Amino acid sequence: MELYKGKTKIVCQGTDENTVILRFTDNVTAFNGEKCEALPGKGETGFAFSNLLYGFLEQNGIETHMVEIIDEATVEVKKAEIVGVEVIVRNVAAGGFVKKYGAKEGTVFDEPVVEFCLKSDELGDPLINESQIRALEIATDDELAEMMRQALKINKLLCALFKKAGIRLVDFKLEFGRYENRLILCDELSPDSCRLWDVETGEKFDKDIFRQDLGDLVSGYTEVFDRLSKTLTVV
Ligand code: CDP
Repeated sequence: MELYKGKTKIVCQGTDENTVILRFTDNVTAFNGEKCEALPGKGETGFAFSNLLYGFLEQNGIETHMVEIIDEATVEVKKAEIVGVEVIVRNVAAGGFVKKYGAKEGTVFDEPVVEFCLKSDELGDPLINESQIRALEIATDDELAEMMRQALKINKLLCALFKKAGIRLVDFKLEFGRYENRLILCDELSPDSCRLWDVETGEKFDKDIFRQDLGDLVSGYTEVFDRLSKTLTVV
């Protein structure tokens, strides 16, 4: 039974009341849904990439929502109550950070920058600070600290992994959910929600290919997936 149809995925009832089934579509959207297209193969490549990273993170002590991969675009996940903020981690200035604060694209930060954005398509996912999050009762102090701790740990693990694959993890977005009194990593972690640049050439392998009309998005996603899977089999 279909419960909800999002921009890039469909959510269905799971096999019991504690799970839901997510199906990834070929849609790609940018600029808060203003630009939208269906690209054959995009759902599968983004999904395979996300599964690879989630498997790696689980092995390294991060609990995710994953229960079981059903087919090449479908997964059963723990039904969590999604916290109403997106957590953005940045290692290098790009995208919104350049636009909002006038930083030069490509500036490498000494320490990762962590930002929270309110999850609201209507309001365009505005930046929100910790005191505003508390005032709106979106998350508690403990949850904020836990999201920050997990985000920084995930960043460390992923930076090391991508480095071995010759890729720079510029920035990425995470979502957390409440599940049995703890926070777990939810949603996807694919080139839709990361910026990934070739270490040597600076070539972009992520959704900026689509945002900036730079070429074939699915081949960019396939390239990073291939590099990562080789890196992971070597480890
Ligand atoms: O994506 P945009 O340039 O508008 O915003 P950003 O704040 O520079 O995004 C930082 C990172 O978070 C990028 O890798 C985005 O792809 C990702 N992001 C996302 O996946 N979903 C959002 N709603 C916002 C950002």
